[in-house]
Amino acid sequence: MASIDVTETKDTLQVRSHVQYNTPEHISPQNVHTSPLEQFHIWFNEARNAGVREPDSMSLSTATSSGIPSSRMVLFKQLDKRGFVFYTNYTSRKSKELDENPNAALLFFWREMSRQVRILGRVEKVSKEESEVYFQSRPVGSQLGALASKQSTVIGENDLQERLQNLETLHGIEPGTKQGKLPLPDFWGGFRVIPSEMEFWLGKPSRLHDRVRYLRIEGSSDDEPQWTIDRLSP
Ligand SMILES: Cc1cc2nc3c(=O)[nH]c(=O)nc-3n(C[C@H](O)[C@H](O)[C@H](O)COP(=O)(O)O)c2cc1C
Repeated sequence: MASIDVTETKDTLQVRSHVQYNTPEHISPQNVHTSPLEQFHIWFNEARNAGVREPDSMSLSTATSSGIPSSRMVLFKQLDKRGFVFYTNYTSRKSKELDENPNAALLFFWREMSRQVRILGRVEKVSKEESEVYFQSRPVGSQLGALASKQSTVIGENDLQERLQNLETLHGIEPGTKQGKLPLPDFWGGFRVIPSEMEFWLGKPSRLHDRVRYLRIEGSSDDEPQWTIDRLSP
């Protein structure tokens, strides 16, 4: 059965949703982990085990220095005690915005579990060595794709295909083969979002959702950050 009703006229599209979140669990500052990174770990594993589709996809929001925001999806690749890592082209729109304004927001939405996780923080570039290790773990087709794309620039219909063919010739890779390794290009690598705030959200009936927010206590050590934990009104 459709979970939304749509009314369309010539100039409007109106949507009424009938989704009722109905999770039996309950989260509160009393039953979450004292560290939001550990809490994320628990929820991420629960999402994986529950068969959530693409639990590793997250929305990344950036903003220009004058505060004009933009969002897009990226893939979450690593979490350690410093923060959340994703990989991208360093000349893309998102990267340019992060260069001029290092504040970012991440959002995971695990629909099948009625859960979302919000992460706010500053970014740093991951080391060249870390990016190299990740780049070399990717199939050659993805490496070629990364090299061929001048991400976020305007291109002609056949530009990408031509660049791909030139790169295959340059690096001696037979079209369609999975063999070979390409060097990590200077314009490609990871960013790490170092959280200063995280929120865990659980959908409940009648909009009475559970929200638990962690705020990093200023001045607490990078090695073992301390957090205040509060319940927020839905
Ligand atoms: C599920 C999903 C995952 C994606 N993962 C990445 C990623 O890890 N890195 C990336 O650069 N782009 C990724 N993309 C493409 C981005 O959404 C975006 O189109 C691209 O990075 C250019 O964004 P920008 O012009 O804002 O820089 C992904 C798209 C989707 C739908």
